Amino acid sequence: MRWVFRGRHFLSLSDYTADEILYILQTAEGLKRRWMVGETLTILSGKTLAMVFEKPSLRTRMSFEMAMYQLGGRAMYIGPQEIGLGKREAIKDVATVLARMVDGVMVRTFAHEILVEMACHSRVPIINGLSDLHHPCQVLGDLLTIQEKKGRLPELKITYLGDGNNVCHSWLAAAAILGLQLTICSPVKYLPHPDIWQWAQERGAQSGATIVHEVDPFVAARASDVLYTDVWTSMGKENEMEERINHFKTFQVNDSLLRQAKDDVIVLHCMPAHRGQEITDEVMDGPHSAVIDEAENRLHAQKALLALILN
Ligand code: CP
Ligand code: NVA
Repeated sequence: MRWVFRGRHFLSLSDYTADEILYILQTAEGLKRRWMVGETLTILSGKTLAMVFEKPSLRTRMSFEMAMYQLGGRAMYIGPQEIGLGKREAIKDVATVLARMVDGVMVRTFAHEILVEMACHSRVPIINGLSDLHHPCQVLGDLLTIQEKKGRLPELKITYLGDGNNVCHSWLAAAAILGLQLTICSPVKYLPHPDIWQWAQERGAQSGATIVHEVDPFVAARASDVLYTDVWTSMGKENEMEERINHFKTFQVNDSLLRQAKDDVIVLHCMPAHRGQEITDEVMDGPHSAVIDEAENRLHAQKALLALILN
């Protein structure tokens, strides 16, 4: 199946089929096992990845850089002050020049359209390292973590609490494609984008997914296998923080919310976390938390993606 992936962009999970996503996860599991026994890999020997960041990052930068290194290739970081996508230089020109020099380009930016435009003009894969609309690499790592902890993905009750943001949108895509049971619990002012919600309902009807919205966090959390949260204020929206705290304060993942879920619930958070806002220290550091494994799994999931699309 490897040939199916070669040269493809990765802008959203909705660009991939269920079989393809499951194959990426299977590849990630294999690469993780080989990493755990200390095997040296050369799958991407001689290959390079440019990493364009217009927003800050810890996990995405480190995991992509280490993924390339551990597969025998190398990655180059280009920070927010350097390119000026669409400002210092046309997006098209950045994409075409980079494609002459590297084998793939990871981009973290604001408007999702920037990624789409880069992909239109790039003959090497463009990978979405987070846009205002999607964060597909994060959800690949999340799916890998849930599979590891729960042994399966279907039939689990997965509950996303908080903002209808980029991470939430990628979760909608994952659930719709893979046929998962996903509850989105957000205040009505911060629902996911209506077009993505509609698409997820239609795609989910084909895959057997159940995707519902619940406004009450205590009802949503009930009998959940997975509780997922993210910051209430995403990067770029910092001036809305105070207003958002007011709207979201009852959506905090804390001990009393956790008690509504199943006894063996796992708690996920894509991080960075605003401890004391969307999640308490007790939950973040508690026995149900899988957030650090989740962060590590970014490395393994992205290694699989890179090995498949850059090769
Ligand atoms: N989860 C995530 O993408 O983290 P960073 O913003 O640190 O990359
Ligand atoms: N929704 C968050 C995710 C950070 C990884 C943001 O966009 O800031």
